[in-house]
Amino acid sequence: MTARTAPAVPRPEILAAFEAAKGFMPVDEGLALYAAATEAAALGLPLVEVGTYCGRSTILLADAARGAGVMAVTVDHHRGSEEQQPGWEYHDPAVVDPEVGEMDTLPTFRRTLHAAGLEDHVLALVGRSPRAAALWRAPVGLVFIDGGHTDEHATADYEGWTPHLAPGGLLVIHDVFADPADGGQAPYRIYRRALASGAFTEVSAHGSLHVLRRSGARG
Ligand SMILES: C[S@@+](CC[C@H](N)C(=O)[O-])C[C@H]1O[C@@H](n2cnc3c(N)ncnc32)[C@H](O)[C@@H]1O
Repeated sequence: MTARTAPAVPRPEILAAFEAAKGFMPVDEGLALYAAATEAAALGLPLVEVGTYCGRSTILLADAARGAGVMAVTVDHHRGSEEQQPGWEYHDPAVVDPEVGEMDTLPTFRRTLHAAGLEDHVLALVGRSPRAAALWRAPVGLVFIDGGHTDEHATADYEGWTPHLAPGGLLVIHDVFADPADGGQAPYRIYRRALASGAFTEVSAHGSLHVLRRSGARG
């Protein structure tokens, strides 16, 4: 019988930094993300996040990366997703640049990472995710998709980043809701597509956060 190892949990100061950071991810999903990131980091490859926002989830990836001596890479144009724009449910006027008149979460993200002491473990790419994915060349151990939640954006993130995922690497998708009454369906559709491709098997699900493992070639 093979002994199951307990999932990795963040140290109290990392969990406190996560909880203090601006963002939307609940603690139980954060713990699942941390466990997945720690497992994937053991592959010795970078961990990629699509959708930095203010760095709440980045803290967890960065700490997992630090533990394994790899880098967390996080991509965001920092202008906010559709549902974060003025007048929408997730808008936060505190992250609008008054001079430019648009959202800018980059300064808050940098403060978050600095306060957590994790700046050295993160490579922040500022720009559109598909552009970064098209230039990216190295295999990665984890792809965490939490960027734009339209079909256009979620599909582009899936198609752009999963080809870089190494065999045995983890694909983590946030805001996966089977029931449209609970939330938008684009993340659910890429989750279903990954499973239908035969290239991924489901590892676990915690709330809306699903963890899949690359078991085959291309998804
Ligand atoms: C839901 S938030 C990410 C939350 C973050 N992962 C957390 O848990 O704290 C989504 C982010 O994706 C970014 N985003 C949306 N579409 C994008 C795209 N095509 N390229 C880069 N970033 C994008 C938005 O600017 C926003 O900051």
